[in-house]
Amino acid sequence: MDFNLTEEHIMIRDAAREFAKTELLPGVIERDDKQEFPTEQIKKMGELGFLGMMVEPKYGGGGMDTISYVLAMEEISKVDASCSVVMSVNNSLVCWGIETYGTEEQKQKYLTRLATGEIIGAFCLSEPEAGSDATSQKTTAIDKGDHYILNGTKNWITNGSTASVYLVIAQTDVEKGHKGINVLIVEKGMPGFELGPKENKLGIRGSDTHSLLFTDVKVPKENRIGEDGFGFKFAMKTLAGGRIGIASQALGIASGAYELALQYSKERKAFGKEISRHQAIAFKLADMATEIEAARHLCMKAAWDKDQHANYDLSGAMAKLYAADMAMRVTVEAVQIHGGYGFVKEYHVERMMRDAKITQIYEGTSEIQKIVISRSVLKD
Ligand code: CAA
Repeated sequence: MDFNLTEEHIMIRDAAREFAKTELLPGVIERDDKQEFPTEQIKKMGELGFLGMMVEPKYGGGGMDTISYVLAMEEISKVDASCSVVMSVNNSLVCWGIETYGTEEQKQKYLTRLATGEIIGAFCLSEPEAGSDATSQKTTAIDKGDHYILNGTKNWITNGSTASVYLVIAQTDVEKGHKGINVLIVEKGMPGFELGPKENKLGIRGSDTHSLLFTDVKVPKENRIGEDGFGFKFAMKTLAGGRIGIASQALGIASGAYELALQYSKERKAFGKEISRHQAIAFKLADMATEIEAARHLCMKAAWDKDQHANYDLSGAMAKLYAADMAMRVTVEAVQIHGGYGFVKEYHVERMMRDAKITQIYEGTSEIQKIVISRSVLKD
């Protein structure tokens, strides 16, 4: 077993680290405060290849492995989780979904532009009454021969207003339950497609989250991904990989907060010495470092499984569950170590604590990961 990173992996990690420090750190507090989408930053991320890392070069991607993606996600998330959620959705859900299951025409038309970041994509599964219970889709895509008529509402859609391409999951045949669900590629500007209000969020405030409204939207049949009725399996397979991305995001948020707390604890003095030399703080740092390392191993194992073409449903769910819950614990401790400074915006850790919370909610709550894991460990 070799735990060493290759030279290429180290290069990618260091490039992401440098980019995050020089391009994302300036203005991150203001973007969070004003809920400002990081337009320029995302454009640069596209130019550097961070938005289509694993896509084959012939479709404009970087042709990299999932380990490289986890390394880059961690570094970007250490500094700006609003940027890394855009990166995660575009890479893991939209690009991966089209590349793996799309037709050659869909890849030529959409993937090449998504992978380079010329446009970005959104993944639309959640509904007012179907978040965790994803089979209960109320959005309908009625088969009209050469096209579908799409009606319904989607909620909490990441990249809601900034995306150009939307993968929309909808029910075609209620009688068939989850086997009657399809996934359609919907373009911004299709008549009947409207943007709902922007959400005012606790965390990842730079990313734009919207509800979407579809009223008699005519979607050509060639925009369906996979066979008729493949939509639910598509969503499950895509989310299984997406969970590796969000686990890496949680890992990055935690390691970013830990690094700041470590630094602060070496500078701040109380009772005659640096606070890091008080056991109360040193033990916190020891716990944080250990939990971060454990999450990193889980993320890497899930990424390795994916790269080996092994099943990663279980390892991805474990990585997501552990990393998200860990990120919450670690960021709370980072605020605590900073004391009063941790409670104000300039020190970054309060934002990281707010950002960490969403990793326990999106792409399947921690409870959903436990369903996936327990089903796997209980099966004969
Ligand atoms: N791969 C392939 N197929 C899968 C699968 C997987 N990982 N998981 C389930 N399936 C298949 C099952 O085999 C089954 O098919 P068959 O009937 O042919 O055997 C079918 O899907 C239905 O499966 P279940 O009976 O297990 O379905 P369920 O209703 O019990 O739900 C669940 C399972 C795991 C709870 C699922 O509903 C789930 O993952 N829910 C959470 C959804 C989620 O993550 N939402 C987040 C929204 S997206 C987002 O957050 C993006 C963003 O913007 C950041």
